[in-house]
Amino acid sequence: MPRLELRADDHLHSPELKREYTLANFQEVSKSYDFLTRALSFGRDQSWKRRLIKALPPMTAPVCLDLACGTGDLAFAVADRYPDATVVGLDLTPNMIAAANERNTHDNVRFEIGDMNQLGRADNSIDLITGGYALRNAPSLPVALDEIYRVLKPGGTAAFLDFSKSTNPFLQWLSLKILYLLGAFWGLVLHRQTEIYTYISKSLKLYPDRDSLHRSLADAGFKVKMSERFFIGTLEIFVLTKSPKPIETAATASSDETASAGEAAQAVLA
Ligand SMILES: C[S@@+](CC[C@H](N)C(=O)[O-])C[C@H]1O[C@@H](n2cnc3c(N)ncnc32)[C@H](O)[C@@H]1O
Repeated sequence: MPRLELRADDHLHSPELKREYTLANFQEVSKSYDFLTRALSFGRDQSWKRRLIKALPPMTAPVCLDLACGTGDLAFAVADRYPDATVVGLDLTPNMIAAANERNTHDNVRFEIGDMNQLGRADNSIDLITGGYALRNAPSLPVALDEIYRVLKPGGTAAFLDFSKSTNPFLQWLSLKILYLLGAFWGLVLHRQTEIYTYISKSLKLYPDRDSLHRSLADAGFKVKMSERFFIGTLEIFVLTKSPKPIETAATASSDETASAGEAAQAVLA
């Protein structure tokens, strides 16, 4: 009897239902998650995470938040990269947090249950936000980006690893199909249920393609400092900095223009 009774197809079109679905799904997969991630990535997942960590800038005693931390891979890697950091791993799913806590041997890492759509942190309080396969799981991507922007310090860094969806419709169809079949296979093998890992391709289908994603990042106020795609372009890591939002830049520019017009007028009058 399948233990996950919810169906992704009925849940991914509304933030509230998606949250309910991902929670039920990851509660179920927590024990097989690490194995599945290595299997689906053909053993590459750890090296992609190392690449992400290597791409981060030097920082002193940073305050770090790892979103959708799962069993803690990136939170631990951030703590190893910055031994004087304080790192919090945040995840919606209690069983994933329990798995992360079991693995935790770091004094400066702790884990808590939380939602990336509601970070519950002060504005401008975090130096570094990371996320491995995080953003695609957000109940609402725009809300998650706004939250990340809100809590990052000005100039702060956010860095993510996730699937990258091609802009070419045929390549998009092909990669989603392959991911669906791989997910169905591993779902059957590990849980006697295809539904559980076909969620990955179903959520990716609704996720923006790489150009739209980069537009959303820019609209949310992030500057892309580094971006790298690999695994035939199906995965991407990107490092962002919090910059003034485009609208703020425009507003500042126009108030600067007003100021210099005023200065010019004063100079003429003087
Ligand atoms: C694919 S796993 C990624 C785990 C880990 N970051 C890694 O790189 O291996 C996605 C994680 O997102 C979590 N998640 C799903 N929705 C979430 C939300 N709204 N807020 C926080 N975490 C969420 C799940 O519980 C799950 O642990």
